[in-house]
Amino acid sequence: MQAQNPEEINLGLAVTFIPNKTIPIHNWFYYKEGYSKELVEWLIKKWKISGKILDPFCGVGTTLLAAKELGFESIGCDVSPLAVLAAHVKTRDYNLEELKQEFSKIRGIKLMPEGRVQAEKWMKRLFYTKTLENILIYKGEIEKIKDEKIKDFFMLALIACTDMVMLATKQGGSLRLTKKPPIPIKPIFIRKIKHMVRDLERKPVNVGQGKEPEVLQADAREMLLEKESVDCIITSPPYLNKIEYTTVYKAELGIFFKHQETRLRAFIGEEKFQAENETDEPLIAQAYFKDIEKVLQNCYEMLKPKGLAFFELAGACFPTHTIECDERIAEIAERIGFKLKEIVVCREIACYRIAGNSGKVRESIVVLEK
Ligand SMILES: C[S@@+](CC[C@H](N)C(=O)[O-])C[C@H]1O[C@@H](n2cnc3c(N)ncnc32)[C@H](O)[C@@H]1O
Repeated sequence: MQAQNPEEINLGLAVTFIPNKTIPIHNWFYYKEGYSKELVEWLIKKWKISGKILDPFCGVGTTLLAAKELGFESIGCDVSPLAVLAAHVKTRDYNLEELKQEFSKIRGIKLMPEGRVQAEKWMKRLFYTKTLENILIYKGEIEKIKDEKIKDFFMLALIACTDMVMLATKQGGSLRLTKKPPIPIKPIFIRKIKHMVRDLERKPVNVGQGKEPEVLQADAREMLLEKESVDCIITSPPYLNKIEYTTVYKAELGIFFKHQETRLRAFIGEEKFQAENETDEPLIAQAYFKDIEKVLQNCYEMLKPKGLAFFELAGACFPTHTIECDERIAEIAERIGFKLKEIVVCREIACYRIAGNSGKVRESIVVLEK
């Protein structure tokens, strides 16, 4: 499959998840924090990438799936169990007959609530009781599926539907309660599975020929792989925007990943950070760049000599000032030993919507070479 002509891509849009909303498989799980398949393809084509690609903040697997579709080997990690599940499900190869057999069993599940639902108070506020009960019934039945791949496939479909029946909307970094009439989960869930199965049936033969990528639940601040084991890194770290990613996915994490800490730390930047030097920079920014330094150091070690690393990120707005993260990250990377090849500015974001500040920040791709 051909990547787009470098001249034709709208970078301001390509750094968002929006283009993925209409692309088969990429649209199985909407992840506002993600970028688009076309951005990955554009980078691969423009910089003539070959070999194994790493995404240490893989989110829902956009880099990994785009790489697989182009026949590349890839590996990714994320701290969020929800993101890791989505990345796995979207990048696996399936036996369609087995999936369909399991689907017919799921269609037959009787949604008879058994007594009152056991859930924490905050979760009960997010759903009509009956809806939550039915989600839990489906979840319980899916958990009985022995085949891991098939189980994960249906679980992701159910998680993706949870957002649609929730009495709240994801706004920026928070969940805002909304009033809506009860929406039955069953038709939405069945429609979602049909859509996912149809995508697999219609997948052109030349798409998805790459090997299934390896997806790890891991922290990018730790060394993930052997030294000099990847040819390229394409990634987007969490932005320095003070958004606690997990708040937005509180319901999904609480219902489907109970054994995990709901308040999982899913952002770069130490919570209890002690500043080493006197500076005007907010503590959160100092902590952020310290963590980014660890990540860049690891990336430097894992990359093969001459390998390229692409970091897609945005600047941060604070009430009284802005921080352009591309320049700061480029400085840190150069200190580590990377050569700065280019900073590709993709768009400008006005701060007034984020921090009531009248400034603007850039969203860019920092291109580094080892
Ligand atoms: C900007 S998003 C990347 C989205 C991805 N490009 C996609 O299209 O799905 C950043 C991701 O980093 C993850 N993350 C945050 N802190 C992390 C850490 N310390 N190690 C690994 N992943 C982390 C978040 O869970 C989030 O999925």
